[in-house]
Amino acid sequence: MVSPSGGAVPLPPDDAAAWGAVRAVRQGAVVPASLENHPLCRMMLPVARPETLVLAQLGQSLDGRIATIGGGSALINGPCGLDHLHRLRALADAVLVGVGTVCADDCQLTVRRVEGPSPARVVIDPRGRMPPRPRALRDDGVRRIVIRAEGAPHCAEPGVETVHLRSRGGLIAPADIVAALARRGLRRLLIEGGAATVSAFMSGGALDRLHVVVAPLIVGSGQPGLSLPPICDLDRAARPVTIVHPLADGDVLFDCDMRASAGARCDGGRDERDASPGRLFADG
Ligand SMILES: NC(=O)c1ccc[n+]([C@@H]2O[C@H](COP(=O)([O-])OP(=O)(O)OC[C@H]3O[C@@H](n4cnc5c(N)ncnc54)[C@H](OP(=O)(O)O)[C@@H]3O)[C@@H](O)[C@H]2O)c1
Repeated sequence: MVSPSGGAVPLPPDDAAAWGAVRAVRQGAVVPASLENHPLCRMMLPVARPETLVLAQLGQSLDGRIATIGGGSALINGPCGLDHLHRLRALADAVLVGVGTVCADDCQLTVRRVEGPSPARVVIDPRGRMPPRPRALRDDGVRRIVIRAEGAPHCAEPGVETVHLRSRGGLIAPADIVAALARRGLRRLLIEGGAATVSAFMSGGALDRLHVVVAPLIVGSGQPGLSLPPICDLDRAARPVTIVHPLADGDVLFDCDMRASAGARCDGGRDERDASPGRLFADG
């Protein structure tokens, strides 16, 4: 939670206790029974529990935009959505972005809005087009890694590891990125954007969960979120089992389990998922 002036303010006591419990679960503890049904625990425990996890997060408008035409994305989500993103970072071993996001946002990728450790930071920059001294690679004691295509030069930023991986047609297989990071002890990954990076992980089948935080605004133009290979038939659309969490300031989190399908529409109009557990509201 953040004050209007932007400074971090303490969570209400029960939220602080719930967030403490979630962080403890991340370290192997059991959540106290009194907090199991706390909304923050219900939202965050599926992220805190697994030993290995590839989770992507996108903040988007009602019309599915993640940034304006000029590339600005900082104000799409409200404070609750931003707090959520920082909680996801605090639970991750590493946060990954594509070089397009570093160029557009010069993002820091640290945990600043909530209590918790900052994860390692990974930039996928296959051709070495990142500008010098990006904030994401600043030396603040956190591990920093750049993924490059085989044959591309090492990253010249001091203290930054370069990992070279095979690229085919300009694409490094997301599964190879996940495996390379796992070999380096980074098994809980937050894929934070942008659109091309999250889309590649999704179409490569490398995502376990997808969090989409939808803000009640209409941008009307600009960068769309996911962009996947075309389909002609909605039966082929992904229908992940999804839990919906309304956030306190009007944003809504869709927590999608990409390993569990809610099935497809199949009777020419009536949505059979209405009778299935495919779309659940956290409150009911
Ligand atoms: N609202 C949000 O949640 C959110 C979050 C993050 C970013 N954004 C916005 O998203 C925009 C940037 O998104 P974007 O789609 O343009 O760029 P991006 O996804 O940040 O970066 C894409 C680039 O990263 C490299 N890359 C990523 N995955 C790769 C892979 N598997 N194999 C090879 N190369 C890979 C490629 O670099 P090369 O082009 O060099 O080959 C690719 O073109 C910005 O406007 C930013 O503000 C919004």
